[in-house]
Amino acid sequence: MKLTVEDINVKGKKVLVRCDFNVPLNENSEITDENRIVGSLPTIKYLIENGAKVILCSHMGKPKGEPKPELSLAPVAKSLSEKLGKEVIFAADDNVVGDNAKAAIAEMSDGDVVLLQNTRYRAEETKNVDEFSKELASLADVFVNDAFGTAHRAHCSNVGVSQYVECAVAGYLIEKEIEFLGNAVNSPVRPLVAILGGSKVSSKISVIENLLKKVDKLIIGGGMAYTFFAAQGKTTGTSLLEPDYIDYAKKMLDAAGDKILLPVDTVVAKEFSNDAESMVVEGNIPEGWMGLDIGPKSIELFSQAVKDAKTVVWNGPMGVFEMPNFAKGTNTIATVLADLDATTVIGGGDSVAAVNQAGLGEKMSHISTGGGASLEYLEGKELPGIVCLTDK
Ligand code: 3PG
Repeated sequence: MKLTVEDINVKGKKVLVRCDFNVPLNENSEITDENRIVGSLPTIKYLIENGAKVILCSHMGKPKGEPKPELSLAPVAKSLSEKLGKEVIFAADDNVVGDNAKAAIAEMSDGDVVLLQNTRYRAEETKNVDEFSKELASLADVFVNDAFGTAHRAHCSNVGVSQYVECAVAGYLIEKEIEFLGNAVNSPVRPLVAILGGSKVSSKISVIENLLKKVDKLIIGGGMAYTFFAAQGKTTGTSLLEPDYIDYAKKMLDAAGDKILLPVDTVVAKEFSNDAESMVVEGNIPEGWMGLDIGPKSIELFSQAVKDAKTVVWNGPMGVFEMPNFAKGTNTIATVLADLDATTVIGGGDSVAAVNQAGLGEKMSHISTGGGASLEYLEGKELPGIVCLTDK
């Protein structure tokens, strides 16, 4: 257990809060998905209400250690100001801890909020170089990490800085993510069903291995299913296939017995396009056709498999949900989960996008703000951004 914001006295203290404001922007620098900003609000509001001087920091994108105006956090300051109903002062220093930041912080009253510039404008950030960690720490008395989405990285602003402050504690978002993801895999109400999708087996090997030890059923869909098809001796046409992982898939199938459920039919198309000629096939995928979604019988099979579940963890879409003609598998699974009387935990950028695209976000128990971080959590790994915080 780690200390949280509620375990420390923040009144009058300068509190550096690491958030994950790595949000998507359109060509007009408008934020197109504010989930991570909304997720950061409970901690920020708590600190304001309890009289802290709140200094926010985050990375955005990969500016590779130099200022990139298109990756400035200015749009985040604007969005936060609107959401908090008070001005968030943006300290636009290209070197992050510069004169603007120092002057803005020197003028802060209790309850004020300052946002620093993109921490990845500094080359030291992703290398976790002490010097930048110390600069960040010099701005504050205590450190709060609330950047769950970045917790799998060991960078200056989320790990290094924790060594140079009085105290480093978790924010509400990190606490909530650990509660939902942690309980779902480590002490779930059973039956526990995991649904894995997305394109690559290779990126989910450790997740599959860790989850197989814990779940009652593991459903595999999406592009990664075709490597499992090949392991069963089926033909896969021009579908996504990772030949180097066919043996691995065979071993998993042998070890898991009937714990793993694979699609029994597939929506196949002539090419990777929404308007491509398509049909549903069972078993083998014919030469010249590629699988782009699970078929109706698989939807039924998977829906039945989750029907009595008390906990469901979902990571990765069932098909190419960005194309309306191949979104039915993913959308139907989202709808089924939304109606379940179970704890439903959605992790990973694509499945979260699919759930939100279907307008079902509110109906899930928890939508993780972590892509890579939630995946590593499901792999059973310790996340450096959490490990570095002070124990209770
Ligand atoms: C994410 O979006 O997964 C996090 O913000 C981490 O970003 P990164 O993959 O660029 O480190």
